[in-house]
Amino acid sequence: MLAKYFKPSLLKEIAEAAGTPVYVYSKAVFLKQIASYEKAFRGVDPLFCYAMKANSSRALCALAAGGGWGADVVSGGELYRALKAGFEPGKIIFSGVGKDQAELEYALRSGILFINAESFEEVLGLERAAARLKLKAPVSLRINPDVDPHTHKYITTGKLGSKFGVTFEEAEKIYRYAAESEHLNPVGAHFHIGSQVYSAGPYALAARRLAAFMLKLAARGVGLKYADVGGGWGAREGAEMPDPAPLAAAVDGVFGGTGLKVILEPGRSVAAPSGLLLTRVVYRKRGGRKNFLIADAAMNDLIRPALYGSRHPVALVGPGRGAEKVYDIVGPVCESGDFLAEGVRLREPEAGRLLAVYSAGAYGFSMSSQYNSRPRAAEALITGARSWRLIRRRETYKDLVAAEL
Ligand SMILES: Cc1ncc(COP(=O)(O)O)c(C=O)c1O
Repeated sequence: MLAKYFKPSLLKEIAEAAGTPVYVYSKAVFLKQIASYEKAFRGVDPLFCYAMKANSSRALCALAAGGGWGADVVSGGELYRALKAGFEPGKIIFSGVGKDQAELEYALRSGILFINAESFEEVLGLERAAARLKLKAPVSLRINPDVDPHTHKYITTGKLGSKFGVTFEEAEKIYRYAAESEHLNPVGAHFHIGSQVYSAGPYALAARRLAAFMLKLAARGVGLKYADVGGGWGAREGAEMPDPAPLAAAVDGVFGGTGLKVILEPGRSVAAPSGLLLTRVVYRKRGGRKNFLIADAAMNDLIRPALYGSRHPVALVGPGRGAEKVYDIVGPVCESGDFLAEGVRLREPEAGRLLAVYSAGAYGFSMSSQYNSRPRAAEALITGARSWRLIRRRETYKDLVAAEL
């Protein structure tokens, strides 16, 4: 389904010019996912804040910023990249459980829309930073609505017992404190229930809980402006994201007519279908009853299969020859957990053959590392039917030691 956006002739050209492994993104697919959110949420008119952790490449972020989207950042580094990519400061929100003083000050000095705080101690830290800068910090609280999103446990974030957010009881105390503070301005409330969520039901439940809480809070004198329902809408591997219309209906059903400005923080659903990892077969071998393809991409390039058990479709670039066999596709890293895909049916790919690992646009490059002292991959963007450009050069051996003293 996604293959039509990644023509074999272009992929071969990119691999020749940029080498492998290389991440290849499609501008058309990225813009299509953005358009599909905008269409589904027409009636809600939210502020979309692209979750940069999914893919913080400047070229892709600039596409989101150019479309009027804001950004959801989770570190000072992401804020820096967001500003460089052209996101308006007034459309940037800052999430995360452990922002330090330097990061909070940086956010305040940059004039971002608000900070999603996750504990009383963080709010006190934010107050200190704002006092030093002699201003009032716009703050929202991430609340844990205790809702099960039915996804992998590593990406479940909105159930009690997770490190994220505060309970409704705790939130009420913090809002009351913030409302009285000279240096805090409580403006919003937030939840993010998890990632790879395919049904709108958990969002509706969390939104109802949040709306009831915000109503109660307003009655007690703390009126908020923003309802931030996080990201997490899923994208099945190998496919574009499912229509976000049910999500829009759930959000509108709760917040429509309340006068609150809804904020959405999608990451994966926009970026995942937009990219693939292009890798070459280095060797073939048999081990026990298994056929292995050893590729030049590894878990340091794409860790999701090892970390979450995610299953990325893998296809030969161009037609195959010979009989179909079942392969495990592994990388050169010295770990048994280093695999890109298991049990894949392919027609006998000889050494040097190009393989496309689909749905790798989110949490692919952004989670990559130099483990085993492997320079990070290059990134390329397909910009038209026959055009592409390099958007990040391949790292070199010099890059591996550049920061060492
Ligand atoms: C606070 C917050 N917002 C948004 C996202 C983006 O989620 P996704 O990429 O699944 O849309 C995350 C992901 O971890 C998050 O923690």
